[in-house]
Amino acid sequence: MRRKRILTVVGTRPEAIKMAPVITALQASGWCDCTVLATGQHRELLDQVLQVFGLVPDADLQVMAPNQSLAALSARLLCALDGAIEHWRPDVLIAQGDTTSVLCAAMAAFYRRLPFAHIEAGLRTHDLDNPFPEEMNRVVAGLLTRWHFSPTESARENLLAERIPADRIHVTGNTVIDALHSVAERADRAHLFARPGRRLILVTAHRRENFGAPLAEICRAIAQLASLRPETDFLFPWHPNPNVRGIVRPLLEGLPNVTLCEPLDYLAFVAAMRQSHLILSDSGGVQEEAPALAKPVLVLRRETERPEAVAAGVVRLVGHDFDTIVQSTLSLLDDAAAHAAMARGVSPYGDGQAASRIEQILRKALAQ
Ligand code: UD1
Ligand code: UDP
Repeated sequence: MRRKRILTVVGTRPEAIKMAPVITALQASGWCDCTVLATGQHRELLDQVLQVFGLVPDADLQVMAPNQSLAALSARLLCALDGAIEHWRPDVLIAQGDTTSVLCAAMAAFYRRLPFAHIEAGLRTHDLDNPFPEEMNRVVAGLLTRWHFSPTESARENLLAERIPADRIHVTGNTVIDALHSVAERADRAHLFARPGRRLILVTAHRRENFGAPLAEICRAIAQLASLRPETDFLFPWHPNPNVRGIVRPLLEGLPNVTLCEPLDYLAFVAAMRQSHLILSDSGGVQEEAPALAKPVLVLRRETERPEAVAAGVVRLVGHDFDTIVQSTLSLLDDAAAHAAMARGVSPYGDGQAASRIEQILRKALAQ
């Protein structure tokens, strides 16, 4: 019997981080040929991650264009992915998460009658506007998926509620914890961000539904906190999306204890998370990693598809309301007990073994 061919697709920073352990496990397994296809939805951010994990894509579709519309991105992705499927002729296509690359990968596979495996399956807010457009991306990808690899039991329940057959869903944990474990030692030797005797607050923001007034309010809250707490440093590695920088720059640039910097590579970012007192973020991945590192996260969104850490009390939703962000942050800076209650080091999203579970499930399924 010929060896099975698996085509893995990565488009953006978080997909590459979360897919790296799966690619490594499949390539080490010996039973399949695992090809890496970069869509290039992100350019600098994707290359940064691939480098950290030592991954060299077999092909790169180079679809990024400055500030392109979602429709233009989708159209380019769908045609380019279809060509790649025709070229590689895989037995399975795998993608991770909820970006436009993932939606288009699932659609391209469907049109070619090719089984699609979805990693981080079943996350839902049940609100198509939040996060936008990711909730639509993952619902549609879910409709087209043969193997759903869910990070948690509640993600599995979301899929069951959508009448996905139970035998197609596998709870594996989130591969982001595998990725985190794989760099932990190297991250410890990476850059120092926290200055002696000063606390560090790490900030990230990039969600499309926060563009405009919500992101401006978030920045005004950070400026207020920086002025109220001059002995605390704020580190904001800003996303290259021009819709982020255009709002953040005039509100935060030049403040003495706020550093705006280029996106950090994964090792440096993990080091920054470890050195921070708390994190303000609208990122999905950060909500999963920070609890495992015992770092409180105040989530700059009104809802989350990752309810487990909120239920555990180690992540709190603060939205984009100025007073809520300021008061919640001050409480974690000033009240040691409140901080300790959120800094407990629980990991609701996995044990670092998700990739090997996924590899074994696919091996068994494809042997049949
Ligand atoms: C995308 C995903 C989002 C994910 C995020 C992770 C979609 C619609 N959005 O958002 O789900 O959470 O990635 O970071 O799939 N840019 C660069 N260099 C880069 C990356 C982006 O210059 O390396 C700029 C370009 O002008 C690009 C713009 O940012 O057009 C937007 O990129 P895009 O991938 O469409 O959306 P993100 O906001 O990055
Ligand atoms: N990250 C990084 N460098 C940064 C900011 C984030 O390596 O400067 C990592 C972070 O640890 C997490 C992932 O990128 O694993 C999250 O990416 P992002 O917030 O862009 O996307 P999301 O998870 O919201 O889809």
